[in-house]
Amino acid sequence: MNLSSAVHRKIFYIISISSEKIKQNSYVIGGYVRDILMGRMKSNDLDILTIGEVTKLAKEVSKYIIPYPKIRIFKRFGTVMLEYENQKIEFVGSRKESYHYSSRNPIIELGSLQEDQNRRDFTINALAISLNLDNYGELIDPFRGLSDLKKKILRTPLDANLTYSDDPLRMMRAIRFATQLQFDIEQSSFQSIQKNKNRINIVSIERIVDEFNKILLSEKPSIGLLLLYKSGLLSIILPELVLLKGIEEKNGYKHKDNFYHTLQVVDNISQEKTNSLWLRWVALLHDIGKTYTKKFFPKIGWAFHAHELVGSKMVSNIFQRLKLPKGSSIKYVKKLIKHSYRPITLIEKKTSDSAIRRLLFDMGKDLEDLMKLCIADITTNNIDKKNQYKKNIYLLIERIKKLEERDRIQNWKSPISGNDIMEAFHIDPCKKIGIIKNFVKDSILEGKISNNFHSAYFLMLKKGEELGLKKK
Ligand code: CTP
Repeated sequence: MNLSSAVHRKIFYIISISSEKIKQNSYVIGGYVRDILMGRMKSNDLDILTIGEVTKLAKEVSKYIIPYPKIRIFKRFGTVMLEYENQKIEFVGSRKESYHYSSRNPIIELGSLQEDQNRRDFTINALAISLNLDNYGELIDPFRGLSDLKKKILRTPLDANLTYSDDPLRMMRAIRFATQLQFDIEQSSFQSIQKNKNRINIVSIERIVDEFNKILLSEKPSIGLLLLYKSGLLSIILPELVLLKGIEEKNGYKHKDNFYHTLQVVDNISQEKTNSLWLRWVALLHDIGKTYTKKFFPKIGWAFHAHELVGSKMVSNIFQRLKLPKGSSIKYVKKLIKHSYRPITLIEKKTSDSAIRRLLFDMGKDLEDLMKLCIADITTNNIDKKNQYKKNIYLLIERIKKLEERDRIQNWKSPISGNDIMEAFHIDPCKKIGIIKNFVKDSILEGKISNNFHSAYFLMLKKGEELGLKKK
């Protein structure tokens, strides 16, 4: 087996002679092996399995590395980490019983290579390459992992119920790998996920969300979202999304299935040149308010008035429950959902410039992402309609660009500050300053005065006098 790049060859050689010296067999195992066999070299993490004492091997290896690397020992997991030329190398001893990633009471008992491979999650992740002098580079594949790689199948080495109960996070991992690699999960394995879905509750939310985000960041997230739905896991993790499913018909009026629509929007946004996790979250949650705003109007049909406002408010609870970051990310997600419908209302030719200036002002630098969302939101199968909708949005974007070039609103800062007002009227901070500032801002956005200091100052004086203030 060709052990990849020069850096890797060097470190494998060092591990090999170190293992020989301390008479301990060692192997490269897990994701690294899977990825080189797939020609998917992305990993900076190397997992080295040794049949024996982990620290002893890591210390021996470090003797050959200049400068002497920092060794980090993780007692709880029985692993040792060291860094070599930007490569993280994790040394782990072979395990007999429950795998050390198990969320509860990891049982650490030394075992053979095969025993360790037994307790790994998928056959494609249980592949090992020998680093021992007698069979250096040999692929050790007791579960036909290589054949599964070729057939693009995710299969557990042992009975799926056992593998998933060892660590229920593996149910999420199965779906994550199925999405990232575009593999199928073996049928009985998927049935086991359906059966064991509630066991996910013993896994920490951070680990679940970590996998969920990887699904969301993959090329076609809908693969994973659909599998999460079919397995029943989505109802546990994100029930708000599942509630969007279904079509209702009344008096011949139907609305679209908002669940499948959402999946399509997430895929569309992922195809846009963006790897922004939070924009993908926006796409995922942009319609969640529809469940609570759905209403039937005779002779008109179904409507979801103000769903974007309701949806935006729901984001706080979801982020809190999933322990997603507070601060700028949540603000961004809420803001984009809240304004998600606005561009559509501006498509009409007769829309005033001031309405567009307001959008530019309110969205600032996030306007580009909002427009990406609007384009991704077009999911109709009717080609003529699709083209028309897209054309409308591109025309709006053109108009926005022209206006921005002329008026520079996107990064707008008021030409006059609170200090200017206080100085002009010789007053201390008070409510009137806010009123004047807002009045000036609105007048600029509405195009009543030009966006410059002179015009703004003059208007400020006028407004101040109206409010009973006297110029110094
Ligand atoms: N593993 C496992 N069960 C888990 C997590 C990991 O059996 N719940 C094993 C697998 O053999 C896996 C290896 O530990 O290949 C390393 O785990 P990790 O680094 O999390 O995943 P990778 O397979 O390397 O994939 P990725 O880097 O894409 O997460």
